[in-house]
Amino acid sequence: MPGYLGLSRLTLAILRSHMKTSGDLLVIGAGGGNELISFAMEEWNITGIDSSPQMLELAEQRLSQIKPKSKIELLCDRFENFEKGKEFDAITSILVMHFLPDDGTKSNFLKKVFHHLREGATYIHVDVCRLPNASMDTIAEIAINYLITTGLVHNRDEAVKFLTNGSSGAYFSETTRMEEMFREAGFIQIQQFFQGLYYCGWMMKRGPLK
Ligand SMILES: C[S@@+](CC[C@H](N)C(=O)[O-])C[C@H]1O[C@@H](n2cnc3c(N)ncnc32)[C@H](O)[C@@H]1O
Repeated sequence: MPGYLGLSRLTLAILRSHMKTSGDLLVIGAGGGNELISFAMEEWNITGIDSSPQMLELAEQRLSQIKPKSKIELLCDRFENFEKGKEFDAITSILVMHFLPDDGTKSNFLKKVFHHLREGATYIHVDVCRLPNASMDTIAEIAINYLITTGLVHNRDEAVKFLTNGSSGAYFSETTRMEEMFREAGFIQIQQFFQGLYYCGWMMKRGPLK
């Protein structure tokens, strides 16, 4: 993902600004371990959930190579099935919700995030999305060149295959639609803090119960 490292550092900075030491953090889509590795030196209680055992195993392998200061608990399940009533000081969902269709499923996911946060707590949401005035053809062409330029693939065919695999099963929403869903779920102070080539990051607060 072009710009992922910057996004990751910004996310940590936002959480540091908003969370107290020993706060409770839920990482949705924790598999692969990118967030866990980035947050592991904070003295937080981190719960990570991911539906993929393989992705969680990769996260565990990466964590075993460092000595985290955080207390980390990993759960293998879909977030939709998460049952702990615990209210968190912050939740992150980075590159997860684009797997869900906008037929009420995305909205229900966000309402569930709201339900697991304390009032005034922080939610960080990063999603693949359609940017205003952006042609998907132009973005695809830039993404192909990005993959080749960074050496992640050798040629155009490999880049197209990589992008096709990566976007299969993805439901892209307009950024305005995303913000509408955040508001409907009860979030307030919604602020976009990041924009990549085809994905955006927002931070927001859990508003009062309606
Ligand atoms: C594109 S990866 C992003 C992983 C990580 N958040 C990152 O930024 O590196 C998406 C992850 O979300 C997980 N995932 C997808 N849908 C999920 C759901 N409904 N509940 C929990 N995890 C989910 C996938 O298994 C995968 O590990």
